[in-house]
Amino acid sequence: MQLACPVFFVGFMGAGKTSVARRLARTCGISSVDMDTYLERREGKRVKEIFAEGGEDAFRAIETDVLRELSSKEEPLVISCGGGVVLREENREILAESGFVVHLQVTVHEAASRISDKSSRPLFQDIDAARKRCLERAPLYSGVADVEIDTAGKSVPRIAREVQRAL
Ligand code: S3P
Repeated sequence: MQLACPVFFVGFMGAGKTSVARRLARTCGISSVDMDTYLERREGKRVKEIFAEGGEDAFRAIETDVLRELSSKEEPLVISCGGGVVLREENREILAESGFVVHLQVTVHEAASRISDKSSRPLFQDIDAARKRCLERAPLYSGVADVEIDTAGKSVPRIAREVQRAL
């Protein structure tokens, strides 16, 4: 299957963006890029180090740079975005202009059970704070999405198939 534009996955931490993006990319015979992995390689630092040294603002500035860089690549890509990419209006504009945006919906309860290493996610330390953050972000994810997929109880291949049908 040929993709005419990049596909971006957005959604809360633990929604399965990276796994589903990988699966979809493999099915389509193209590459997938995980924004945080790309960002860590580019900066030579882990996300949690960037948060610890410069705070969330420093991380968000780098994240916007990386989003710009990835969205302007010529090759077709499936990109899994960090959960907070929708916070900046600038980023939401880039997403809307550059490709097809898939929102993977997840409850915080399910997300918490999927995240094995919370230490790598500075903004998912406390479940009540995560729930509040998830609720606040819900309209931002929906606002930017071309399609929304409820991931509850579904396997990665099944979610990827649903995305493929929506493309
Ligand atoms: C964040 C999500 C993380 C990472 C950073 C901040 C967020 O990515 O970008 O820890 O604000 O939701 P994942 O959604 O891939 O975990």
